[in-house]
Amino acid sequence: MKIQDIINHLTCPTCKSTLSFSEQSLSCQNNHLYPFLNGVAHILPDEFNVQLKSTSDIYGKLWTEDFDDFTNSKPTHWHYHEMQRVLSQKIVQGALGLEIGCGNGFDSHCMAQENPATNIIGIDVSTSIFFAQTYQKKRDNLFFLRASTTSLPFADNTFDFCYSYGVLHHLPNPFVGFEEMKRVLKPGAPFYLYLYEDHQGSVFKYYPLKLISWIRHLSTDLTPSQLKILCTLLSPFIIVSFSWPSKVLNYFNKTKRLASKMPFNFGKGLFSLKGDLYDRFGAPFEYRFSQNQLLNWYEKLSFENHFFTRLEKYAGWVTGAHKKSL
Ligand SMILES: C[S@@+](CC[C@H](N)C(=O)[O-])C[C@H]1O[C@@H](n2cnc3c(N)ncnc32)[C@H](O)[C@@H]1O
Repeated sequence: MKIQDIINHLTCPTCKSTLSFSEQSLSCQNNHLYPFLNGVAHILPDEFNVQLKSTSDIYGKLWTEDFDDFTNSKPTHWHYHEMQRVLSQKIVQGALGLEIGCGNGFDSHCMAQENPATNIIGIDVSTSIFFAQTYQKKRDNLFFLRASTTSLPFADNTFDFCYSYGVLHHLPNPFVGFEEMKRVLKPGAPFYLYLYEDHQGSVFKYYPLKLISWIRHLSTDLTPSQLKILCTLLSPFIIVSFSWPSKVLNYFNKTKRLASKMPFNFGKGLFSLKGDLYDRFGAPFEYRFSQNQLLNWYEKLSFENHFFTRLEKYAGWVTGAHKKSL
């Protein structure tokens, strides 16, 4: 897709008026100007420099450097497939869908490739969008923008569905993300999310998470480069302490359940956790949710037909609901 194909859906994140396109930039009637940088429209809100820049710096490095072979791998299977596997309803539906916090763009690309009749827009606040954008050239039903979930640059009632994996818990105020999602969804349209869980009911996860939260007080002050070194050194230690023991426990019927409850049970090679650790220790904001808290928000926002399930391999909530129909 080209900017001309979606211009009617775009609004100014600052004053909410419509945007128009001329001379390689977007502007609104109140003269708020949004540039194209390296071919990507940057429609970032005013709060970018106050609260979002550190998130952008951390994830920009994660997705654009050779962390977990992200930059070399081909996007044939990604988080969206893991989500779809545990959901009875089809995620991609209708004419236009939005992925919030698309990172390197793998999921948006897969959704667009497998559903040529649906147009997909992916947004991310970080420079990962430059990497994502390379897929846009290969598909005419895909478009990427640099924008923030805290102030989505889209008109009300625009999308037939919203998808977001591992993003809303990284917002300064996650509830604002839910409000924005509700605003841009069409009445009756669904959203599908993967979110961190607070693990209140599991001593094996709750206390290690407390330790991680404590370490985060220190680690979020590190620069992205320092953090990358720390996580590379920490990965073998976590693999040997948690991942490999859980693999052993998984062999025996009596201890299978215990293995499934151990943290980092998905780790494989010695350095396979460095990207995951970087995410956990570096993201400036990290919230964890109980089912009740999410239900409370769904009620506040009048969402209907909510659901909760889990992924096969990873802890956390796969959840969603529908915007109330008219
Ligand atoms: C854990 S990564 C998940 C990326 C991708 N969804 C995936 O599954 O691979 C979180 C992503 O959320 C993005 N993000 C964080 N805050 C955001 C915001 N306010 N608006 C848009 N994206 C945001 C980050 O830049 C990062 O790419």
